[in-house]
Amino acid sequence: MSPQNPSDPNQSNPDPAPSDSDQSEQGSVFYRWAPTFMRRSTHMNTSAKLGLTEPYQHWYAPITSTNLRELFAEPEHPLTVEIGFGMGHTLIQMAQSEPTRNFVGIEVHEPGLGLTAFEADRLKLTNLRLIKGDALKLLENLPEGHLDTVQLYFPDPWQKKRHYKRRFVSPERMELVIYALKTGGIFHTATDWEHYAFWMIEVLDSLAPLQNVAGSGNFHPRPDFRPLTKFEKRGINSGHGVWDLIYRKL
Ligand SMILES: C[S@@+](CC[C@H](N)C(=O)[O-])C[C@H]1O[C@@H](n2cnc3c(N)ncnc32)[C@H](O)[C@@H]1O
Repeated sequence: MSPQNPSDPNQSNPDPAPSDSDQSEQGSVFYRWAPTFMRRSTHMNTSAKLGLTEPYQHWYAPITSTNLRELFAEPEHPLTVEIGFGMGHTLIQMAQSEPTRNFVGIEVHEPGLGLTAFEADRLKLTNLRLIKGDALKLLENLPEGHLDTVQLYFPDPWQKKRHYKRRFVSPERMELVIYALKTGGIFHTATDWEHYAFWMIEVLDSLAPLQNVAGSGNFHPRPDFRPLTKFEKRGINSGHGVWDLIYRKL
């Protein structure tokens, strides 16, 4: 783990978290989760700016949505939610290559939201919608068994011990993911941080409703359907390994 690694948000941002409290203010409601994301300032290019404007708003759905399937012309298609899609390259590629699957991406980072909406519009993708905000809030509103797949690629690693509570993969947060997944549904995550990879496998293997598709204690071989992500590329360039984990809800 290189101290210079640019994919390390703990190092690239001197003010890593919106709050260190487990009860942080999120908009107008008092929210009970420690945020799993951090403040980031990324340059917003013209496309990203455009993608946040009024003519692109039909690509977005409210975080209070309780039925994501009805956002699509073909609601019967399998539904994937991607949490923290970053700049959206992976999500766009997956939506393009799987037109018979619907995708909802949720992200807090505005440049990524804008750029992804702009690209969805340019490519006229009918099977993709975006939501701005904290995925945990969305999951809390969804009915049981609503989703076929939840994907979480290269989540913020929160390397410092005092920040482990912010890691998305925790028993408490996974309870929400498990609830929202249908029986037989898939949770797929990947990381380039070795400590987080072993943390994840310990947490996920211990959750009774989840079955490790690769067998207990095993990471999954990198699946062909997962495109290389921006943060994955950075990690590889810094000499990191990559660990995929795929679980089925029993
Ligand atoms: C390290 S980046 C990875 C981005 C992308 N998946 C990739 O691999 O290039 C993690 C992203 O997850 C987002 N994120 C973290 N927690 C989130 C949450 N609770 N809800 C929505 N987005 C979240 C962050 O804003 C950030 O853009």
